[in-house]
Amino acid sequence: MHNYIPIEAKPHTPPYQIHRYFARRPWNVFSELIKNYSDEKDIILDPFCGGGVTIYEGLKLKRKMIGFDINPLSIFIVQNMIRKTWNSKELDGAYRSCINYLNILYGDFNTIQDIKGQNRLQPKRISIDWNELAFLARCNLCKKVTTLSNANKIKNGRYYCENPQCKASKDSKGYIEPKNCERAGYKYLFSVGMYTKKQCAHEEYSELRKETVEKHIFFLKAHIKDEKIEIPHDKIPLNWDRQFEDLLAKKGIIMFQDLFTERNLLINLLLLNHIKKLNVSDETKMILRLIFSSSLRDTNIMAFTHEGWQSGKPTTWSKHAYWIPNQFCEVNIIPAFKHAFERMKKCLEFNAQLNYEIKQTTTPQELKKDNNLVLYNSTITDVKINAEFVDEIITDPPYGSNVQYLELSHFWYPWNKELYDNITPDFSKEAISNRKKKFEGAKNLQDYENNLYAVFKECYYSLKSERNMILTFNNKDMGAWLALMISIFKAGFSLEDKGLYFQTGVKNYKQTAHTKSKGSPYGDFIYVFIKTKTNILALYPNITNDDELIEQLDKTLIKHLEQYKNSKEKNKNDIIKTMVLQIMPVLEYYVKRVLKDGTHKIYEKYKTNHLEKIYGGSDDKEEQ
Ligand SMILES: C[S@@+](CC[C@H](N)C(=O)[O-])C[C@H]1O[C@@H](n2cnc3c(N)ncnc32)[C@H](O)[C@@H]1O
Ligand SMILES: [Zn+2]
Repeated sequence: MHNYIPIEAKPHTPPYQIHRYFARRPWNVFSELIKNYSDEKDIILDPFCGGGVTIYEGLKLKRKMIGFDINPLSIFIVQNMIRKTWNSKELDGAYRSCINYLNILYGDFNTIQDIKGQNRLQPKRISIDWNELAFLARCNLCKKVTTLSNANKIKNGRYYCENPQCKASKDSKGYIEPKNCERAGYKYLFSVGMYTKKQCAHEEYSELRKETVEKHIFFLKAHIKDEKIEIPHDKIPLNWDRQFEDLLAKKGIIMFQDLFTERNLLINLLLLNHIKKLNVSDETKMILRLIFSSSLRDTNIMAFTHEGWQSGKPTTWSKHAYWIPNQFCEVNIIPAFKHAFERMKKCLEFNAQLNYEIKQTTTPQELKKDNNLVLYNSTITDVKINAEFVDEIITDPPYGSNVQYLELSHFWYPWNKELYDNITPDFSKEAISNRKKKFEGAKNLQDYENNLYAVFKECYYSLKSERNMILTFNNKDMGAWLALMISIFKAGFSLEDKGLYFQTGVKNYKQTAHTKSKGSPYGDFIYVFIKTKTNILALYPNITNDDELIEQLDKTLIKHLEQYKNSKEKNKNDIIKTMVLQIMPVLEYYVKRVLKDGTHKIYEKYKTNHLEKIYGGSDDKEEQ
C-alpha cells in the first residue's frame, strides 16, 4: 500500500497556459500521485484526460500514457502542450507574416488621436486596444431603442430607458429589465488606446468614427470576397443546457459567429485563411492553429471591463458559461494574437529544457515496444484495451453538472473542426448531468452514473489486479457524488484502506470573487481505489433496498452535519473525510450485494432527505 501526503499545490506552468480548458487541476499534485503510485515505464491510463495534466506529467516522469477524451478540444490541446520540437525560424517567420497581414487588415481604421501629442505640431495617432460596445434593446414600455450600457445600468438585470419621456427613464425613477426587451443589435460607445501599460487615451464614439468602422467593414468584406471566403453560420443548438442560464438565443446570439462583433469575425476569418495558406511545414501550421485558437478566447464579445479589475483592461472569458455582458469589448486582434504566440513560445521553450521524449503510437499494444503515448479522441468504450494491461489509472472525472465541457468547447468548433479526429462528438456519451432537466436530450444523474459506469467498467477490465485507480473529486452536490461512487463500485473497485486524502488547491487561485462569494471549499478530495479480490465487504444486513440505504446514509450525515456547521473552517474538510469514510463501505455493500445489476431510485428519493442539506445543492467549480 502506498501513502499520499498532500502537498502545496503550485500554479500552472507554461504548458497549461497555451489554451483555455475547463477546471484544470494542479500539475504537481498529479505529478506527486504518479510518482507515489507508479514506476518508470509503467502504463498509466487517464480515461478523462481533459486539459492533459496526467498525460503531460506522466510523460515527464517517463511513464507510458494512454489518454482518452470525448472532447476534440482536449486532444487538440494535449497534442500541442507536449510538443518538444519545433522549427523556431519557420515559426517566427510565419508569425511575423501573420502580424504583417493583420497590420494591413487594420490599416488606419483602428486608431485614435494621441492626446499626449496634442501640443505637437503633428499629433500622433495610436492604435486602439479595444472598443467598448453595448447591446441595444427595444424598451418594452415605450418601444424605443435604448442602450444597455453601464451608464444606464442600475444593477444587474435593471436599466434606465434612455427616452426621457418613458416611465423607465432615470428622471421617472423607473426601470426596464432587458430580459423582457427584444434585442436590437449593438453600438460602439468609445475607444481606448494604451500609451504605456497604465496610461490610456479614450475617444468617444462620433459620426466620424461610425463612418470609419463602416469603411473598415467594407474594406474587410472586399478582402473576404477576393479570398473567396464563405462566412460560416454555425447555429448554437437550442436544446442545450447552457441556453437556459445564458439565454443566448434570447439575447440574439443565434450562431457561434455571433459571439464576435462583425469586424472581429471578419478579421479572424481572414487571419485563419492566411494561416491555412502559409507555405510552412505541417508542424508549424499546427502550432499557429493552436495560437490562433487560443487568441479567440480574448477577442470575442464575452470580454468586458470592470473598474478595478485587470487595471481596467478587458477581462477575458473565464466563466463556465457563455456569459454575455451587456456592455462588452471588441478587443484588437493583434495584441491578442501576439500574447497567444508568446504563451505557446514559452511552452515550447519550457519543454525543450525537460528531459523527456515523445514516441506516440496508435494502439495500446504498441506501448509494449519503445513507445510512450496513445491519445484517443473518444471514450474508452469505443476502444478495446487488453485485460490486465494497465498499471495505474489516474484521472479527474467530470463533476456532475458543474461544467458542460462539450457545449462550452463548441465555441472553438467552427474554427478548428477540420483539425479534429472526432468531427461530431457524441454528446450522448458525455458523462455529465444537466442543470436544467426539462429539455429534449437532457441528462439526469442516472445518465451521469450510466456513462461513468461504462467508462469505469472498461477501466476495471484493463487494470492489473491489486493496482490502483486514483481520482480527484470535489462536488457539493451529494447526488453527483453518489452517482460517481455507485458507478465505481458497480464496476468492481473497492476503496483502498484509508484511501482518501484532502488536497488543498493553489493559494493564488483561492480568493477570487467567485469562490469568496459562495464560501466554497477549494481543493479536492483524492480517492484511491483498488482492483482486488481480497477485499472483505463489511456487511449491513439491514440494508435491503434504496430506502434503507438512504436511511443509513442519513444517520451518518445528520451526525456529521451538526458538527460541520459548528466547526471552524479549517476542520470542515476533516469532518467530511470522516463522514465519507463511514459512508463508503455502506455504499459499497449496497452496490455489490443489494443492487448488483439492478436499477435504483436513489436520485429521486435522496432529495427529500438530509443528504442535500450538507452543502445545499450543486455549485460551480472555480476556473483555474
Ligand atoms: C474534469 S475534466 C478533466 C480535467 C483534467 N484533469 C485537467 O486537469 O485538465 C473531465 C473530462 O472528461 C471528459 N469526458 C466526459 N465524458 C467523457 C467520456 N464518456 N469519455 C471520455 N471523456 C469524457 C470531458 O470532455 C472533460 O475533458
Ligand atoms: Zn422606454
